[in-house]
Amino acid sequence: MRHLLSISDLGVEGIEEVCRLADHFTEVSQRSIPKVPALRGKTVATLFYEDSTRTRLSFEVAARRLSADVMGFSVSNSSVNKGESVRDTVNTISAMGPDALVVRHRSAGVPHQVAAWTGAAVINAGDGWHEHPTQALLDCYTIRDRLGSLAGRRIVILGDVKHSRVARSCVRAFTALGAKVTLVAPPTLLPPAVDSWPVDIGFSLDAVLTDCDVVYGLRVQNERQSEALLPSLREYTAQWGLTVDRAARMKPDALVMHPGPVNRGVEIAPEVLDRPNATLNEQVRHGVVVRMAVLYLLLVADPNSP
Ligand code: NCD
Repeated sequence: MRHLLSISDLGVEGIEEVCRLADHFTEVSQRSIPKVPALRGKTVATLFYEDSTRTRLSFEVAARRLSADVMGFSVSNSSVNKGESVRDTVNTISAMGPDALVVRHRSAGVPHQVAAWTGAAVINAGDGWHEHPTQALLDCYTIRDRLGSLAGRRIVILGDVKHSRVARSCVRAFTALGAKVTLVAPPTLLPPAVDSWPVDIGFSLDAVLTDCDVVYGLRVQNERQSEALLPSLREYTAQWGLTVDRAARMKPDALVMHPGPVNRGVEIAPEVLDRPNATLNEQVRHGVVVRMAVLYLLLVADPNSP
């Protein structure tokens, strides 16, 4: 594998390989010096055209723990503000010789384009509504860590599926590993071609809550909506929110997950986020070791392996 643009680039074996490597890097992260020399002499550049806290920091920490050098690029203080195109920016950064480019952009397909323009390995860190493969990998790793495996597990993905690249990557990854996924969302927040997705659709959270193993909440993505798809946030929470009452009806060991950032009190009640079965901080922690695994696979493992 040369690039990680979609979960489909990995397949089931690739996802399992990432999880195995992440187990190893978890052990590394617990050492007093949580660092290995695997990427010494390599450079990882981050190219973020959209806001990010955890994804960007997580890639940077992962690269440093593997002893790589890190080049950070953020649009807010770069020549993009002077009108430089993505292609020229990629050419400029590529001329400095990075080994990997981690790309986030508001338009679907930009990381694929970048892969055609650079000799570096490209990692998709979120492109428009399309994909966010490393988020899905860290979520698989978190479920596997808590519940043993994904096979046969019932996972509810709740909320704004339409605008969510996380949902698209998670559906691919969770179903590849044998989980049964149900999307629960207002009809206006389901994607147009959802009939072709390998999922069930539910229009009532209450109907699926009691026998699922995971509720995966999505942020209501106001910045990606051009039309009024919701009556009001209060009505949204009343019908589709994971409230304290609803969370109390979940199985005791069922997980509450969310990729962050959370609109507290909209998609999930604050009290529910503080319960021990809410995995948000674990997801962030696992993000580092999973991204170490991805960087290792792309930059160190045998380049001729599929
Ligand atoms: C997500 C993203 O940016 O796609 N966040 C993340 O990477 N953890 C989800 C979101 O923006 O809601």
